[in-house]
Amino acid sequence: MIVRKYVFAIFLFQLLLSCSSKEQTQSNISEVEALLAQMTLEEKIGQLNLLTPGGGVATGSVVSENVEAKIKAGQVGGLFGVAGPERVRKAQELAVAHSRLKIPLLIGSDVIHGYKTTYPIPLGVSCSWDMRLIEQAARMAATEATADGVMWNFSPMVDIARDPRWGRIAEGAGEDPYLGAAVAAAMVKGYQGDDLSASNTMLSCVKHLALYGASQAGRDYHTVDMSKLKMFNHYLPPYKAAVDAGVASAMTSFNDIDGVPASGNKWLLTELLRGRWGFDGFVTSDYTSVNEMTEHGLGDLQTVSALALKAGLDMDMVGEGFLTTLKESVEQGKITEEEITQACRRVLEAKYRSGLLDDPYHYSDGQRPKRDILTAENRALARKLATRSFVLLKNHNSILPLKRDAKIALIGPLADSRKNMLGTWAPTGNPDLAVTILEGFKNVAPNAEVNYAKGANVTDDEALAKKVNVFGPRIVIDKRSTESMLQEAVHLAKSSDVVVAVVGEATEMSGESASRTDISIPESQKKLIRALVATGKPVALILMSGRPLTIPEEMDLPVAILQVWHPGVEAGNAVADVVFGHYNPSGKLTATWPRNVGQIPIYYSIKHTGRPNPEGGYEKFKTNYLDVPNTPLLPFGYGLSYTSFRYSNLRLDKSEIGADESITITVTVENVGNLAGEEVVQLYLQDVVRSITPPKRQLKGFKKVMLEKGERKAVSLTIRPDDLKFYNSQLEFVAEPGEFVVYVGGNSDATLSGSFILN
Ligand code: NOJ
Repeated sequence: MIVRKYVFAIFLFQLLLSCSSKEQTQSNISEVEALLAQMTLEEKIGQLNLLTPGGGVATGSVVSENVEAKIKAGQVGGLFGVAGPERVRKAQELAVAHSRLKIPLLIGSDVIHGYKTTYPIPLGVSCSWDMRLIEQAARMAATEATADGVMWNFSPMVDIARDPRWGRIAEGAGEDPYLGAAVAAAMVKGYQGDDLSASNTMLSCVKHLALYGASQAGRDYHTVDMSKLKMFNHYLPPYKAAVDAGVASAMTSFNDIDGVPASGNKWLLTELLRGRWGFDGFVTSDYTSVNEMTEHGLGDLQTVSALALKAGLDMDMVGEGFLTTLKESVEQGKITEEEITQACRRVLEAKYRSGLLDDPYHYSDGQRPKRDILTAENRALARKLATRSFVLLKNHNSILPLKRDAKIALIGPLADSRKNMLGTWAPTGNPDLAVTILEGFKNVAPNAEVNYAKGANVTDDEALAKKVNVFGPRIVIDKRSTESMLQEAVHLAKSSDVVVAVVGEATEMSGESASRTDISIPESQKKLIRALVATGKPVALILMSGRPLTIPEEMDLPVAILQVWHPGVEAGNAVADVVFGHYNPSGKLTATWPRNVGQIPIYYSIKHTGRPNPEGGYEKFKTNYLDVPNTPLLPFGYGLSYTSFRYSNLRLDKSEIGADESITITVTVENVGNLAGEEVVQLYLQDVVRSITPPKRQLKGFKKVMLEKGERKAVSLTIRPDDLKFYNSQLEFVAEPGEFVVYVGGNSDATLSGSFILN
């Protein structure tokens, strides 16, 4: 494109004029240096400004007046909330045809679980433990988003979360750093592909750096306070994995880290991210998080904006603290122009990498949406991924799978509720395109007789419903009395062979700013479940939620429970695929399910403590509770199948290894049930003695295998030297010699074990 040749010529000219360059960081991209050489201080600051014109992707105008004027004046580096090839083209034209240096805009979006072809919420996706499928889904999302003009994705969200009260647990991969790191890498690869400048790949943005998932008491935006040991060993690995996978950008979190909010935290953004991890992309703030440092108590807007820039933040999302104060800060000597140049350089490098400096309209091909978005192939992938994300929690008397010609009472407030299928944070998806559970049953089992009754409201609490309905009606409180709805459902149940009750959380009961202190199924629905079970008919619960729930009462009932999260645009078809046995469920939980909220934070990789409780019992002066056991309701890694698997014969290829050696563990896994099925074979490692207190066990390997009925397979997993390492008190990543115990099985309570010595 002309922009590139033109700026390059000027660059050469300026080089001839000036031989007096002082020491400064240089980009190895000559186009970027050429641009920088021409830019005024104001223009550089403009590149650091990230705006959203408002109005939302689906309904919004291209750009509002104010944003237009700013783009033309070279005061905007990127936009989000704008999509569609034409709208993006118009936005780019404002920059390319009107601003002095014609620098194209980065166009961002939150493509969290699919663009238009919405697949399950990320917590559900992680339960597939299928990295190939996850990468494929991210690839599909990037293809759709770029077809619609978007080339920068605010994903993956890799915050480790061990507190299911926090609504944003729905957006990540759960509690475990090893699994979280694998998912982070798969998503970055899926979005970015091999060539970032291709028109169907997009810049990925790992978020939220850092520790956002550890907000105290699970309350969103709350304080985080954590030791460095816990950070390095448990919370930071997924962010680092994204960096190692080449992620192009990062977004800061709202919380503070060691007393300094992430957006102004130099240790985090410069020492750790760029220094220690070698990150070479750019960093954006989260929505107004620079301004929010004022609320945190760090000073006025000018002060916190200068703090953020000096810390290593490159782009300021929405708040415009950079735009309105940085120049003054340079003039007052609070920051240097070189610090601004450096941030601008990083933003321009990203534009170069994405191919925008070559062709600003690279992502504005009007033919693509029809060809690439919501294709039958994409919907098939979303359906497949959804079936793999479901976790069978219980299957009393093998109620599931259902006969395909059964007379079914399909009951519950989420059984015929299109608006609740996509799940939280699907701003680019269209809920009206989602398949309801009722429709899915009819599609997949046309010979079944399916009759529907709502039975209960998601909740009868009007105040809660109002908060949840902030993006439109998700909880619709019926005009009928709760009693008459219940009676209708019970009546239908009694005249059917089997009851399927679709219950749980509405979409916006999880997600951003949707924390709960009571994470049980709302009472209106519990009542319905009790009444249905009391009919004596077999009952299967299809449980939807964006988080682990506390369901001790339901787990005690003689029912089947299939956890389906919020399954996405193909919800009904995918649920029916599993309910009628076209796919045998294989999902495994990636976050522990507590018995009650008092057990939170809860996770499997706990430490021993000095006073371990006797297993299954209670002893005074040991670590325990008076009212519940220490164990969770459902452990990490847990999930049943319509068949069952037997593990035996664990063997290690060595009994001792040196520091640079790997060790391979093999087990025999046998399908001892009556159906073919997939199993996620999990390997946990215990470092028996070391210089800092070790967790009881940690996930260090997994493999998903398919086994025919009666089939037996030897499954091997390799532990590599880095898998034995941890961050010690000096924050060095080391392995210490001694004994290691391995456990292999179908969840984190695996008992089959062996051991080896690291010399
Ligand atoms: C705020 C959220 O925390 C973040 O995840 C998101 O990417 C931005 N808003 C932009 O929508």
